[in-house]
Amino acid sequence: MTSYKLLLLPGDGIGPEVMAQVEVVLAVLSEAGLAKFEIERDLVGGCAIDAHGVPLTDAALARADAADAILLGAVGGPKWAGVRYEIRAEAGLLRLRKDLGLFANLRPAICYPALADASALKRDLVEGLDIMIVRELTGGVYFGEPKEITVLPDGSKRAVDTQVYTTAEIERIAHVAFDLARKRSGRVASAEKHNVMKSGVLWKEVVTRVHGEHYPDIALEHVLADNCAMQLVRKPKQFDVLVTDNLFGDVLSDVAAMLTGSLGMLPSASLGAVDAKGSRKALYEPVHGSAPDIAGRDLANPIAMIGSLAMALRYSFGLGEAADLVEAAITDTLAAGARTGDIAGAGAKPIGTTAMGEAVTASLRSRLR
Ligand code: IPM
Ligand code: MG
Repeated sequence: MTSYKLLLLPGDGIGPEVMAQVEVVLAVLSEAGLAKFEIERDLVGGCAIDAHGVPLTDAALARADAADAILLGAVGGPKWAGVRYEIRAEAGLLRLRKDLGLFANLRPAICYPALADASALKRDLVEGLDIMIVRELTGGVYFGEPKEITVLPDGSKRAVDTQVYTTAEIERIAHVAFDLARKRSGRVASAEKHNVMKSGVLWKEVVTRVHGEHYPDIALEHVLADNCAMQLVRKPKQFDVLVTDNLFGDVLSDVAAMLTGSLGMLPSASLGAVDAKGSRKALYEPVHGSAPDIAGRDLANPIAMIGSLAMALRYSFGLGEAADLVEAAITDTLAAGARTGDIAGAGAKPIGTTAMGEAVTASLRSRLR
């Protein structure tokens, strides 16, 4: 049986707790003979700053580069609020994305039927919601130069971030979105602000051309990013695949996530280009952050992290059947009424991180029987 090299980077806050539940699921999959994993672990974020003085060591980056897939928990927290900007906890995650060329961030927002009432929107607006946000992840204002704060002659300061996109960067993310749409409902919405930003003008132009040249079978719609935010809360089911830049994608994916009931539910995949051997670098992480306010208290929802493992099984290892099983185990667990605090709603008695992980593993075992 092929053995897959998996690097676990639990990180900070609730990261280690939710990652522990993934390890339990991995053990069940191995026991069942569904897959074999070579598991390595390393540090990223604040815990790496504490241990090594930097949020990601070169050795950890090399490990990540050598792995078939990386699973990351979360980074950052108030403990590291005072560290230099260059070595802040988030810089570890950004370096992984940039140096591994993980330009395509897939953030599915799926509303599980059992959770429609946990959404801030009315049930009929979100029930059956299934959006795929495709966020460009290695360009735009996150990495554009100059990025600096300078002191002006009068002593006041001036801050600059640079939003920059090239044709090639827009083309490759557009291809990812259109290819995904072909396997889904055949619709893509592209969000930018061409009414204000030159990068938006180019974005729209390139997406339109890629569509015309390669994807005549797909329906393409352009939407201004601010209107897109509004439409997401007004009538979210009008969207299927939504492609957008790094910063708009950061914001819009948080909005989309909340439609589903909880940020604690959503996994994500960050993928690189396909190489000559047909494989690609990939990092999987929950959309939620490190949630320092509940860290270490067995309160966090491990489902987004377990769902991220399912995405790794599907996209990196070609283990679609195992991915289906893990996802079905999550659905079963929710349907049976298990709820962590974030999705409990009024009346339900919440269970902890470990109990939720155990419930998912129990559902998985019974599906394996
Ligand atoms: C995300 C996060 C990150 C981002 C932070 C932690 C740097 O918000 O993955 O959405 O802004 O990309
Ligand atoms: Mg974000």
